[in-house]
Amino acid sequence: MNNSYQNDQLVLKNGQDINGSVKWQSPSNIALVKYWGKRAIQIPNNPSISFTLNEAHTITSIEYSPLKPHQDWITFEFEGKKEDSFLNRIERFLKSLHPIFPFLQQLHLNIKSSNSFPHSSGIASSASSMSALALCLCSIEDNLFSTLQEKEAFFMKASHIARLGSGSASRSIYGKLAAWGISKYIDHSSDLHAVGHNDVHSTFKHFHDDVAIISGDKKSVSSTAGHALMDTNIYASKRYEQAKMNMKRILDSMASNDMEQFIEIVEEEAMTLHALMMCSNPSYMLMKPNTLTCIERIRAFRKESNLPIMFTLDAGPNVHILYPDNIKEEAAQFIQEQVMELTENNRIIYDQVGDGPKMIK
Ligand code: DP6
Repeated sequence: MNNSYQNDQLVLKNGQDINGSVKWQSPSNIALVKYWGKRAIQIPNNPSISFTLNEAHTITSIEYSPLKPHQDWITFEFEGKKEDSFLNRIERFLKSLHPIFPFLQQLHLNIKSSNSFPHSSGIASSASSMSALALCLCSIEDNLFSTLQEKEAFFMKASHIARLGSGSASRSIYGKLAAWGISKYIDHSSDLHAVGHNDVHSTFKHFHDDVAIISGDKKSVSSTAGHALMDTNIYASKRYEQAKMNMKRILDSMASNDMEQFIEIVEEEAMTLHALMMCSNPSYMLMKPNTLTCIERIRAFRKESNLPIMFTLDAGPNVHILYPDNIKEEAAQFIQEQVMELTENNRIIYDQVGDGPKMIK
């Protein structure tokens, strides 16, 4: 395995024909066992596993051409408009990748990106946008040098690069379920890139994730600042132990279709993430009153109906309502009758487990 991907051979020769374009659609993902706490450049303090989503995605295209003297090396448009804050982040990220993709210093890149979900929906876009960008960069490398012809090598490198942009983005490279971080329960698992995990009962390959948008406000704590809170959280080491055990327990539950255990772990992970934020210094309370009401209604409905419907949470107030495909009618009715009124402007994003990124020709 290549640990760093540094490669000073990837340099363009004079006269090489280098004009081209690449385009990828890459999805968001929702963690079941959460990544919360990291060391330098997104080395996770515990393994995590997620459902790859279908509807929530980013489409990114890059046109590349030889860089002319005095030309800006990147132009960037988000949904048809120049966005300086995104441009700065991308510029910093691409510069940090020069040792891996030295040819980037020789190219002009015209990058265009758009999301399938509204910007103010409270849906995190770093996983889909960083994975789409990483896939585009790997495609450019392969177009110019034919160095990533093997599918497995291509996606492993894309996941590694996506991780350098945002940890959770590493998991968006693989369809259905993806695991990231060393776990003795997952073959070939690594802290440096994610792996696809398909060793689960078919129920879990067709799960729904309907996101109740309780608030579309910008997050009050960035992920990076949030992860840093774990460095001084007195419960951190216990948390990492718990996550390692929850990996085993959730993998067992998905292999044997033990729904009761699956629900227990998924909700425990969501509550633990928020509990950790509440007892950090400074402390963050990211749930809103309607987040709690929504959680209580999901639990009450599960109890009275005996249906496997559950919630998870990201680092924000919105509630991800998870359920298997065979109860979709009952879930739709419950959401309509009991969840809709808790959302901001009746906003629910209906999503489900998807097949992963797609190259767009
Ligand atoms: C709560 O991947 O956004 O969604 O690596 O700093 O970019 P950075 O953080 P990010 O953290 C995601 C945290 C989470 C849980 C998860 O997706 O596993």
